[in-house]
Amino acid sequence: MLKPEIEDGTRSFADPAFRADVLAGLTRRPRAIPARWFYDRRGSELFEAITDLPEYYPTRTEIAILERIAPEIAALAGEGRAVVEFGSGSSTKTPILLRAVRPSAYVPIDISGDFLRESSRILSAAFPALLVLPFEADFMHPLTLPRTIATTPKLGFFPGSTIGNMTPLMAVDLLRAMRGSLGEGALLLIGMDRIKDADVLVSAYDDAAGVTAAFNLNLLERINRELDGTIPVDSFRHEAVWNDDRARIEMHLMTQRDVSFDVDGRRFSITAGETIHTENSHKYGPRDARILLRSGGWTPIAHWTDPEDHFAVYLAEAQAERPAP
Ligand code: AVJ
Repeated sequence: MLKPEIEDGTRSFADPAFRADVLAGLTRRPRAIPARWFYDRRGSELFEAITDLPEYYPTRTEIAILERIAPEIAALAGEGRAVVEFGSGSSTKTPILLRAVRPSAYVPIDISGDFLRESSRILSAAFPALLVLPFEADFMHPLTLPRTIATTPKLGFFPGSTIGNMTPLMAVDLLRAMRGSLGEGALLLIGMDRIKDADVLVSAYDDAAGVTAAFNLNLLERINRELDGTIPVDSFRHEAVWNDDRARIEMHLMTQRDVSFDVDGRRFSITAGETIHTENSHKYGPRDARILLRSGGWTPIAHWTDPEDHFAVYLAEAQAERPAP
């Protein structure tokens, strides 16, 4: 099947890391492709649409919490910290924090230079007096931040419950890397989605309008567009399941019939009922969240939730380790 994107010449050059992850992910069992590849232009648009869905509570709930607690955060953090955001920043959430804490600098960190430049431009326009220092890097590893803010106390910002995309092992690695990057005495403001009724969770990831299904299936379209793929997208169905043992929503793409297709010149065959695992979204109860933070070297200082306890925002501090008894 020839895709129109190929015919009209808009096929873009593929990121070698995307190619490697897709080929390895389609080869291994169970098949799995990392969720970070959802976010091409179309995927980012679909995610924006997800955040407006009636079933998808996390974004609007976290924004409401941030708006309510911003003055308290400002009082706890004090003025003049450098705000370091892990991810290139959201045009809704980041301004709420920046307006309240009046930082001396804002450092968005992202692996995608394109997203980083775009969001830094928007942020600089909204805060003309603010020193914005975009930093292109993989924040999974400890970083040496720009020298201008070497001695400035830091406030890390990691909203969106993005930590939920990681397995606990990876989440702890990330928290420790953040501690290494920000240094002792730093604060971290982080959003985590709470464990709740499975029906509420499943409908948030399998909405009636089918936007999340389109978001998930776009990964296959992206493979076809960028990696010379012939995947029959119509043969796959979006699936969202609550894995209670691991306290996470899993998204899968399930084949409804036996399919064979090519990607990047390689042939793949998938039998009916088999899935490609595309995302994990881990949820944390109050004790889970605290032990996760402590495991990563962060002491919880305060936390806030919405009236329904659907979402939580934590403030944690990188305290000096005291000797164990
Ligand atoms: C952006 C990772 C927080 O896990 O809820 C939304 C992504 N996936 N619907 C999430 C997502 C399907 C989202 N995060």
